[in-house]
Amino acid sequence: MTGAHNRVAVLHGVNFDILERRDPEMYGGLSLLELETRIERWARELGLETIFFQTNAEGEYCEYLHRVPELADAALLNAGAWTHYSRAIADALAVASVPAIEVHLSDVEARDDWRKLSVFDGLVLAKVSGKGPDGYREALERLSAELGAGPG
Ligand code: DQA
Repeated sequence: MTGAHNRVAVLHGVNFDILERRDPEMYGGLSLLELETRIERWARELGLETIFFQTNAEGEYCEYLHRVPELADAALLNAGAWTHYSRAIADALAVASVPAIEVHLSDVEARDDWRKLSVFDGLVLAKVSGKGPDGYREALERLSAELGAGPG
């Protein structure tokens, strides 16, 4: 589907480079590469192309979002802890102005109070949380429908 309206940028934020070292009860023990491999496969099944990005630097995350309109048709974000306080990243997402979904591996509503707040509230089509890696599949399904992408 080259040239189609089917490219999804998947942006992981702070501490995702060491995902396999984080609490397996919360995050499942997967490495980022294993997670991205699953996401890539699910996306392909849904007729989507993926590009992946991860950084531990907030400014780099913003700069990548500045480029998202050139690189992709939609965005899937798991910004980690930045989700709960980075107004800079929220502003950058607003400028990117592509359909976006926020995903969290853990159930952010059932954890610390500060994790209940998301700076992306009102900027994303949906927030998927607490479903582990499968939450990414759900988000991709929603984006595929949004973009009118088809399997194969
Ligand atoms: C997270 C939830 C955040 O609260 C946390 O800071 C993370 C990961 C998740 O995927 O469950 O880094 O975004």
